[in-house]
Amino acid sequence: MRKHILKFYNPEKHLTMTTSNLQVGQHVKYEIPTKSYFNVTENFYKVVPKVSPLKGRHFNSCAVVGNSGIVLNSKCGQEIDSMDFVIRCNLPPTSGYEKDVGSKSNFTTMNPSVISVYYRKFLKIKKDHERLLRRLRQIGDQILYVPAFTSGGGRNMNEVAGFMLQYNLQIKTAFPPPGINNIIRSIWKNSQFRLRRPSTGAHMYALAATMCDRIHMYGFYPFSTDPYGTPLRYHYYENSKMIKVATHNMPEEFRALQMLHQRGALVLHTEPCQ
Ligand code: CTP
Repeated sequence: MRKHILKFYNPEKHLTMTTSNLQVGQHVKYEIPTKSYFNVTENFYKVVPKVSPLKGRHFNSCAVVGNSGIVLNSKCGQEIDSMDFVIRCNLPPTSGYEKDVGSKSNFTTMNPSVISVYYRKFLKIKKDHERLLRRLRQIGDQILYVPAFTSGGGRNMNEVAGFMLQYNLQIKTAFPPPGINNIIRSIWKNSQFRLRRPSTGAHMYALAATMCDRIHMYGFYPFSTDPYGTPLRYHYYENSKMIKVATHNMPEEFRALQMLHQRGALVLHTEPCQ
């Protein structure tokens, strides 16, 4: 799989844009809406990495943690934290869920929509401001991966960059280039799986396949009940039911992960660890 994925996805190039291929005042075209542009401000430019934060890195074991309710009561936290490199999706809360999802995070993704949904008024309301600060401080000097150029929602990243500078956060950033969804989709183009717009989980599997020898995936289970019929939350950290995410085809991605599990390319955890 690594060999196959590297034909399409080159982490050296596709993990992040760098200061050498962006400049202040540049208008970067969003993937959608196609006629809209992200305006690179001085603040944004200051948080863009000079080189990829994962350049030359390789790991024995990686955990990729999705956000499905399947991880609740799994007691997988310790196992996840024992992996060499832990990837999490969309700035999920871990406090209070450590037993099930662990607390170690080396790489955290954040769709810009996470800001508009969970921290919408972080510039105006003290409570949102402090919550975002607490959450970003938890990342410490590890990696925050933000697909800022994939959709118009990314424009709030200029304000988030200002926030990171204001508090001198030591986060290492990564901003994948526009077109990244097509790149990830092309990995699956000639397969039996029809991915639609690849979810964050599909992006993270591709990244892990390029740099991890053993991949363990937790929290990938896009169904409303577990294998025994018990209702599941859509996200482990909030009381919401499974929704059909129109942009993605998560059940199809799940089937792809199952196939990879059967072939020994990864371990897909859907059962409790203890
Ligand atoms: N996921 C899953 N089953 C769920 C929820 C999430 O398999 N019930 C996986 C998906 O691969 C998803 C990832 O976990 O991309 C992270 O979850 P989430 O933050 O909920 O992703 P979304 O915001 O729904 O989607 P996106 O992929 O656009 O970030």
